[in-house]
Amino acid sequence: MNNSIYGDKLEALKKTETELSESISDIRKEMCARIGMDPVEHYLTRIKSETSMREKCRRKGLPETQESALGIIKDAVGARIVCAFVDDVYAIKDQLKVSGKFQVVEEKDYISHAKPNGYRSYHMILKTTDGIFAEIQLRTISMDTWAALEHHLKYKKQVGDKNELIVNELKRCADELASTDLSMQTIRDMIFENSKSLNEKRKQ
Ligand code: GTP
Ligand code: MG
Repeated sequence: MNNSIYGDKLEALKKTETELSESISDIRKEMCARIGMDPVEHYLTRIKSETSMREKCRRKGLPETQESALGIIKDAVGARIVCAFVDDVYAIKDQLKVSGKFQVVEEKDYISHAKPNGYRSYHMILKTTDGIFAEIQLRTISMDTWAALEHHLKYKKQVGDKNELIVNELKRCADELASTDLSMQTIRDMIFENSKSLNEKRKQ
């Protein structure tokens, strides 16, 4: 008897994880060749553990079944792609979409429209030809840093008179990081422009 909430689909989940990794790797190679640098700072995938998936089902008031875990909840497979620059986040998500290997069933642009607490990332839910869903989170190093720190703080569970201040300060940090991301992007664009015009001058 199989007691896993994923039933007989664990292999299919692993296959999806591999397919995703291969697609990302292809996109990285292609972009590396085209722009001369790896657009991905780091990349990770995971299959949600049995315990976390059961906990999520309970939290959402769903029965702890394969249907809940794979049909209603769509992040049994997850991938996070962290880029140095904002433009690369958008370029990679565009490449993933045109690769034709996955169906895009949901997109959330929390970069253009940050969550009220300041969270930023580009989220996509993809579906494979096997019918497996995967959640992709694309973000910059700054966005990733903020999300990791905010996750550590666990302030949401606390009730206290400093809560409003904490929330406001976290939001301020997120906005400052976003502003730095824009500046870094502008600096990179200037460096590109600079080397392009230098090359053109050399050719003359
Ligand atoms: P669930 O799938 O039920 O979690 O909710 P949802 O579908 O509304 O999810 P959403 O796309 O907003 O977020 C999914 C994932 O993004 C979460 O599981 C986190 O990993 C990440 N995330 C979203 N909001 C936050 C946030 O405020 N802080 C941090 N650190 N991570 C977040
Ligand atoms: Mg979700």
